[in-house]
This record gives sequence, C-alpha cells and structure tokens, in this order.
Amino acid sequence: MTERELRVSKIQDGTVIDHIPGGQALNVLAILGVGRATDDTLSIGMNVPSDLMGKKDIVKIEGRELSQEEVDVLSLIAPDATINIVRDFEVVEKHRVERPEQVVGILSCPNHSCITTGNEPVESRFEVLAEGVRCHYCETIVREDITDLIGVE
Ligand code: CTP
Ligand code: ZN
Repeated sequence: MTERELRVSKIQDGTVIDHIPGGQALNVLAILGVGRATDDTLSIGMNVPSDLMGKKDIVKIEGRELSQEEVDVLSLIAPDATINIVRDFEVVEKHRVERPEQVVGILSCPNHSCITTGNEPVESRFEVLAEGVRCHYCETIVREDITDLIGVE
C-alpha cells in the first residue's frame, strides 16, 4: 500500500491483524473479546482496497499481543490473515495464521445440553474439520456461521 493510500495510521506498539476478509473486522473484534465497551486503543479499516484480496479489513490493537487461542479461532474466519507485532513503530514479527487441529475456549457450543454450556467448569473444545468445527464433547457440527458461536460479552 502506498503512503497515499494509507487509511489507518501506524501504531507504536501492539498488533496489526492484516489481510482479514472484507467485512469480517467486527467478528475479529468479538474473537478478541472486545465487546460493546472497551478500554483498548483500536484502529479498524474495513473494505480497504487490496491488490491481493480485492478488499480487506485491518485491525490494529495497541499495547497488546494475541493469545494462541485467539489466533486459532481467528484462522477459521481469516485464513489468510497476517499477524504483525509492532514495537517502536517497526514490524518486529510477522506470522501467517495456521488452521489448527482444534480450538479451545472462545467459541461456545450451540447445544444447550452440552457439558460445556452448563454449570460444569468445562472449557469448550472443537475439532476443526475441512469445513466447519465439531464439538469434542457432544459432536455437534457447525459448518456455517461459526461467528455465531463467539460469545459476545
Ligand atoms: N503497520 C502499522 N504500524 C506500524 C507498522 C506497520 O500499523 N508501526 C501496519 C502496516 O500499515 C501494514 C501492516 O502493519 O498494514 C504490516 O506492515 P508491513 O509489514 O510494513 O507492510 P507490508 O510489507 O505491506 O505487509 P505484507 O507484506 O504483510 O502485506
Ligand atoms: Zn457441545
């Protein structure tokens, strides 16, 4: 992207999640646990023109890095995302997300009788399939609308 096209300003320290499919930024925020109210300093670009993707979203979070659980769930909705760690305005690390074998936490099972949705202290766990995810405990399969499983705070 040329300077002329820069839409969201650079950050000093934190994480830039780049190459998110256009329109998915708000789902990315939900994965990061950013609810309706937040103290995080965020910049969001949505449907920004991209040579590679046509249009893309970008999320920048200052002063924080992502947990492996967050990156794992992110890979399900943004398989081509790049995670850039920024320190003192420079990109010091760049990773592509990888599709994990399973995702733990963050997603909630849609089955109300599932052991993970009751009062038991059992964290959710889903096996990642070629298309969709399957609850490790009750075997419920979710193919579309995985983002509906993200607990909104
Ligand atoms: N970025 C930022 N603040 C910084 C440095 C970089 O917000 N201090 C952003 C850039 O705007 C870009 C992303 O982090 O969206 C990655 O930066 P960089 O690696 O410099 O850009 P590219 O080489 O274009 O990245 P890629 O090759 O991954 O597309
Ligand atoms: Zn379940």
